[in-house]
Amino acid sequence: MDKIIVTRKIPQPFIEQLEALGQVEMWDESLIPMPRAQFLDAIKDATACFITLSEKIDEEALEAAPNLKIIANMAVGFDNIDIDLVNNKGIIATNTPSVLTETTAELGFTLMLAVARRIVEAEKYVQNGEWQSWGPYLFAGKDLSNANVGIYGMGDIGKAFARRLKGFNTKIMYHNRSRHEDAEKELGALYVPFDTLLEHSDFIICTAPLTKETQNKFNATAFKKMKNDAIFINIGRGAVVDEQALIAALENGDIAACGLDVLREEPIDMKHPLLAMANAVIVPHIGSASVITRNRMIQLCVDNIRLVLNNLHPKTPIK
Ligand code: GLV
Repeated sequence: MDKIIVTRKIPQPFIEQLEALGQVEMWDESLIPMPRAQFLDAIKDATACFITLSEKIDEEALEAAPNLKIIANMAVGFDNIDIDLVNNKGIIATNTPSVLTETTAELGFTLMLAVARRIVEAEKYVQNGEWQSWGPYLFAGKDLSNANVGIYGMGDIGKAFARRLKGFNTKIMYHNRSRHEDAEKELGALYVPFDTLLEHSDFIICTAPLTKETQNKFNATAFKKMKNDAIFINIGRGAVVDEQALIAALENGDIAACGLDVLREEPIDMKHPLLAMANAVIVPHIGSASVITRNRMIQLCVDNIRLVLNNLHPKTPIK
């Protein structure tokens, strides 16, 4: 009988679908990751595992799991998985692209406008009872209309983000590993070298996954090239940014503000200097967090597990 490990608590209807396939062992917490030792023990005799980005699939995990056929990652990003090793072992890994694209682009947009219009600072000001009168420059922020917006990472999420810019009459530039002429035609986005993106953007939005090429891409040199009033938004992966360099850039006025959905270490250490900065807005990795989208992501993982356990091709294999 197949054994299926689920590393977070997911709703019962999904568990019932998995139970129709085999014996299910679910970690019964939705906000606390399954402890590593318990995970390594649980996958010993598992044929399938449903994981989140908290679980690292490395040599140690794969050595512990000789019967594993499928790893279904409830995320589009898969930097938590050593994909070469997984492929070499003939294990199938899947992710959840497409279903989360629009929701994640919407979070990026929310974060961008919230930072531009200083919504978090302004709301705290009201909550603290500091609001005394209307002021000519009270929480005066930055317009998105007519701005140059630079998108780093023009995959599905980058394109969905660019589509949302249309109503704001912005100029769109992008930088990506490869050109996307479809995006250029559809969205009027201009492909530019990375330095040009840095130098000319009023807003920079990073949607890039974490790879060897993107790691620390936003470093001290990059922040120095940006406009002093630029706003930097990251909805990709934390390690694409050198956070010490970001802190210095905010302190020195090399850039104006940032909005981050992702950090190098998640959850954030409460002593992290970014938390004390009014011009840094941080949310807890909620890019794809709408109820419908999270349901779709879980369903996609369940579908992929069902297909692979029935010796069929999964819908969304990681290639
Ligand atoms: C979330 O960050 C994801 O990769 O889906």
